[in-house]
Amino acid sequence: MKIDILTLFPEMFQSVFNESIVKRAVDSNLVEINIHNIRDYSLDPHHKVDDTPYGGGEGMVLMCQPIFDLVKTLRTKDSYVILLTPDGVCYQQKIAYQLATYKHLIIICGHYEGFDERIRTICDLELSIGDYILTGGELASMVIVDSIVRLVPGVIKEESHLKESFNNNLLDYPQYTKPRVYEGLSVPEVLLSGDHKKIKEYREQESLKRTKERRPDLLEE
Ligand code: ADE
Repeated sequence: MKIDILTLFPEMFQSVFNESIVKRAVDSNLVEINIHNIRDYSLDPHHKVDDTPYGGGEGMVLMCQPIFDLVKTLRTKDSYVILLTPDGVCYQQKIAYQLATYKHLIIICGHYEGFDERIRTICDLELSIGDYILTGGELASMVIVDSIVRLVPGVIKEESHLKESFNNNLLDYPQYTKPRVYEGLSVPEVLLSGDHKKIKEYREQESLKRTKERRPDLLEE
């Protein structure tokens, strides 16, 4: 999979993508990530990327030109263009699964003061990572890329993500590791029993119980 990210703050990505599973996926050529500085594509002599809004008002608005040009350069028949904005569709694990099947994602990080409405016309999907306002789409794009990359075949063992929260609309069951008792807190007996059928039943029950308590909305879906 290839991922192109369009941003005004390319340096924000360096540490995040140079760690852990994303780094491993890139190093093993399962994923290619390119960060593009929108400013480098501005045709303005001063590399201007934003301007005042028509009709007046506060703040500066991200201009069409650098983004349109960059997307035109990068887009192929396999590309899927995503715009990050708080008024997009709310991101969820099922969208991560869908996006992980694409060959090429182009992700445009919106600007906290706004962007020219016409930028929406070149996008296939607008995404928000939650009902709060970030200073830009950069952190949102990192969240989305992280959650997609781990689903790309070969990046982590498939069994690892088939059992985790949000699959089948259920939260994860509780997990324990050594020691058996820590500061008076014991591991449930059933997990020490070696009875795989009982362990499976216990985990299913706990998963359902936790979902009912914490996220009943998932069960209604
Ligand atoms: N840009 C600013 N806030 C955002 C959010 N919540 N999700 C995606 N992009 C954003």
